Amino acid sequence: MEITPRDEAAVDRIRQLSEQAGVNISGGKVRRTSSRFCLSVEHGDYNGTELFGVGTDRFIWLAYRPNGSGKVRLFSGNFPNDGVIEFALGEVPEPKSEAIANTWGRFPYGVEYVLRREGFELKEGIDGVVYGDIPGGGMSRSASLSLNLILSLLDANGIEVEDKFKIVGMAQAVENDYIGSPCGQLDQIMILFARENMGTHYDPKHRRVDYVELGAGATDFRIVVLDTGTVRPGLEKSTYKIRRAECEKLVSLLQNDGYDVSCLADIKDKEVYEKITGQFNGSHGDLCDRLKYVFGAQQRFYEMLDAWKAGEVETVGRIFREDGIGLRDDYKISGPELEAMCDIARTVPGVLGERMLGGGDKGASGALVEAGSVDKLKAAVDTGYPEKCPKYKDKYAVHVCKVVEGVRVYDNLLG
Ligand code: GLA
Repeated sequence: MEITPRDEAAVDRIRQLSEQAGVNISGGKVRRTSSRFCLSVEHGDYNGTELFGVGTDRFIWLAYRPNGSGKVRLFSGNFPNDGVIEFALGEVPEPKSEAIANTWGRFPYGVEYVLRREGFELKEGIDGVVYGDIPGGGMSRSASLSLNLILSLLDANGIEVEDKFKIVGMAQAVENDYIGSPCGQLDQIMILFARENMGTHYDPKHRRVDYVELGAGATDFRIVVLDTGTVRPGLEKSTYKIRRAECEKLVSLLQNDGYDVSCLADIKDKEVYEKITGQFNGSHGDLCDRLKYVFGAQQRFYEMLDAWKAGEVETVGRIFREDGIGLRDDYKISGPELEAMCDIARTVPGVLGERMLGGGDKGASGALVEAGSVDKLKAAVDTGYPEKCPKYKDKYAVHVCKVVEGVRVYDNLLG
């Protein structure tokens, strides 16, 4: 496999970091995991909807080699102040404990914890160096890291897991059970299954993934991530947790009332939807608003999928924008900086659609943009964003992304 210039630069950086930290990776492998961009349904995973997204070219690289010691020794170029994270297999801090709250080491600890819990006998430790360029909040940095560490530790131990959903579940468990973040499976699925220049369609009822090619003749477009420069706290400390609870509450109210539903995605029929909102709007207006977004986004989903297949990127963009308005006004999961970016993007001709991304409150927004308009969008952000959000004038960033495969391994780069 030919190495890309970006990978080469990352590996050079990793070599320097390995010397700096005294972590020996010579002769090892490099595993690269992508970020993801959700095209629909954002906040659909824990509500049971179908999902559609792509892998994007912001990455985490992990260079590692088995060290024959039963110990894991890892250094991150992104968190150099945490030093080398070192632990013996089988000896990691308790899940959700104080000891792990403020270190990136909670990811490798959590991976070891979950793999062991799932019955994998890890004997071989690794020495490794991590480096990544995925911005926080919206592009699934944590899922990318968890997946990378799981795949690498399994590989170092000669263990093959054929069922990719098993890997997805374990990566989610690292966050849910060890770290305490109540994430769903969108991020892990969209990264692990991602293929170059393809959309990934996930159907949760049949636990099935299909790849969807962007139809021929599509307008040349770019996926642009508008990082607001804000820091999003863990999902457990944010509106995300509240929204999840609200959605579950509505499901249980409906069940108590005799509706045959196990998640909000089960409400697909317009008549049923109208009956529910007629019945509950007075007593639970907020919950009905959440349902309004999920219901609308689900209806738009199939139109979006057809548009993608037909190469009608303009329609994909319009639906992306409509979803964003629902996330802002009905699901109420956006934030002022995220919307400041959207408001700027919406004024630029050639921007096909824009909305907040991921967990919510803070982090990054995203836009689908005609290739010829990317510079105009950048210029508009450079003028408009510092004015609207002066606190973040030195922190925001614009990332123009390509659609890439989720996982790539280089066997012989570290000579
Ligand atoms: C975060 C979570 C995902 C998903 C998205 C919203 O990224 O980790 O599971 O719920 O938010 O779509």
